[in-house]
Amino acid sequence: MNSILLVTLLVFLGTQGYDHQSHALTLKIKHHPFPFPNIPNKASASASAPVTRVFSGLFYTHLYVGTPPVKVNLAVDTGSSPTWVQSAHCTECFQVSLPNFDPNSSLTFQPMPSDHPLCHGTWLAPMGNLCKYGIEYLGNQVTTGDFGLDTFYFTTTPNDQVGQQQRQTQIHNVAFGCGIINRIPDFAGDAHHANPMSGVLGLGRDDPSSFLLQLNDITLLKFSYCLPRRVGDEASLFFGEEAELKVPAGQIPTTPIVGPSDEPYYLNMTGISLNGSILPIDPKLFTSDGDYGVVIDSGSQYSLFVEAVYQVVRKAMVSYFMDEWLLQPLAPNKTRSKIDLCYDITDIAAAAAGRRGGLFSVAPPMVFQFDGASLELNHETTFQIFYEFNEFCLMIESANKFESTNIFGAFQQFNHRFVYDVGASKLSFFPEKC
Ligand SMILES: *[C@@H]1O[C@H](CO)[C@@H](O)[C@H](O)[C@H]1NC(C)=O
Ligand SMILES: *[C@@H]1O[C@H](CO)[C@@H](O)[C@H](O)[C@H]1NC(C)=O
Ligand SMILES: *[C@@H]1O[C@H](CO)[C@@H](O)[C@H](O)[C@H]1NC(C)=O
Ligand SMILES: *[C@@H]1O[C@H](CO)[C@@H](O)[C@H](O)[C@H]1NC(C)=O
Repeated sequence: MNSILLVTLLVFLGTQGYDHQSHALTLKIKHHPFPFPNIPNKASASASAPVTRVFSGLFYTHLYVGTPPVKVNLAVDTGSSPTWVQSAHCTECFQVSLPNFDPNSSLTFQPMPSDHPLCHGTWLAPMGNLCKYGIEYLGNQVTTGDFGLDTFYFTTTPNDQVGQQQRQTQIHNVAFGCGIINRIPDFAGDAHHANPMSGVLGLGRDDPSSFLLQLNDITLLKFSYCLPRRVGDEASLFFGEEAELKVPAGQIPTTPIVGPSDEPYYLNMTGISLNGSILPIDPKLFTSDGDYGVVIDSGSQYSLFVEAVYQVVRKAMVSYFMDEWLLQPLAPNKTRSKIDLCYDITDIAAAAAGRRGGLFSVAPPMVFQFDGASLELNHETTFQIFYEFNEFCLMIESANKFESTNIFGAFQQFNHRFVYDVGASKLSFFPEKC
């Protein structure tokens, strides 16, 4: 259930791909109306794009790729670096509500040749004349395919631009993957929702072909986002100058991004408090291997802590609900939501009766403490109401069931702007209604 890049597949699962020799530019297509005027790159070093929450708890941004531009929705993922989109020529494909990107139909698409300087990265390898990628995310999720170069268009959300034209940034020759074999269960729809996501926008920094590094004259190795809590709401993702803090440094809580630059974004978490008391957690437990500790990951739906940390949090939460509300949790492993710690909504509603703030008012305040900065979780970023299951659940779980490290996931990041200054290895955050 999360997107941390696990390994790169050096042995590719197959050699399927489209034949780049037959890649033909047809003149006919040139006369199709383009949704956007063909304006040059903006002079300023910036780009922005909307961010939307999906029913599954993941977030995507929509942008346009190719000539004529085709809309694609890419999951916004700070836990991995490759950017890829499912190809119309996929041989193993997930269902998506948008048409797949067809590199063969874009006038500006070029396959990445095997002697391209980026074709020797962590997840890229030359194969014949072409450059292939292969990656595996946590949860046995795999994608492999061909790398190529094409034009990306970023547009601002209309909401950001009251009374203004939608702004657009056109970026030529962006290197990205076209996924041929795509086993991505996270991109499955359900009985009520189609999956809207076509691929991943990797915001990691661990390879020169990552979006941040290959376009560092535009990104300036900086980005920021706000994740909206409500499904379907749009907030914004900024790169470059637009991601810079507009207030003097020092006024905004800031914590170092620790660990080597070929790793995900590790933060130095120092503690967790619940209802004003620091929980008895050995800070060493936040460190996965004794060095650094908690990965911030917008591609994980919620936070996961190693078992010993999670059990302290769970015990404290259970005892809070018992002491404060005389409520017992539902039997673990038996919840219909499949979340570990849940309460019956009927019980919660009785406890919350007459209180301001509704059901959420029964939840205690929690604080995630990082080196130099604290994040106050409000009850809406700790608990989720599952009306369909009649459950009220803590959106934090043990990492062990995913065999992963500590992960600071999206649910706990709602309604804050997170500003990543990757060049300076700093993360700042502050509340924002997004
Ligand atoms: C790509 O387009 C060319 C020319 O239109 C066509 O011959 C070829 O079969 C296409 N390739 C694929 C994989 O569809
Ligand atoms: C939570 O904190 C409040 C305010 O300090 C306190 O009055 C209350 O007793 C605490 N609840 C529990 C269960 O510790
Ligand atoms: C839930 O089930 C797993 C395996 O089925 C078990 O290891 C774990 O202890 C159970 N958790 C609880 C809290 O009972
Ligand atoms: C983590 O933060 C603590 C408290 O500020 C500090 O003592 C420690 O040196 C930091 N560790 C790393 C790896 O930066």
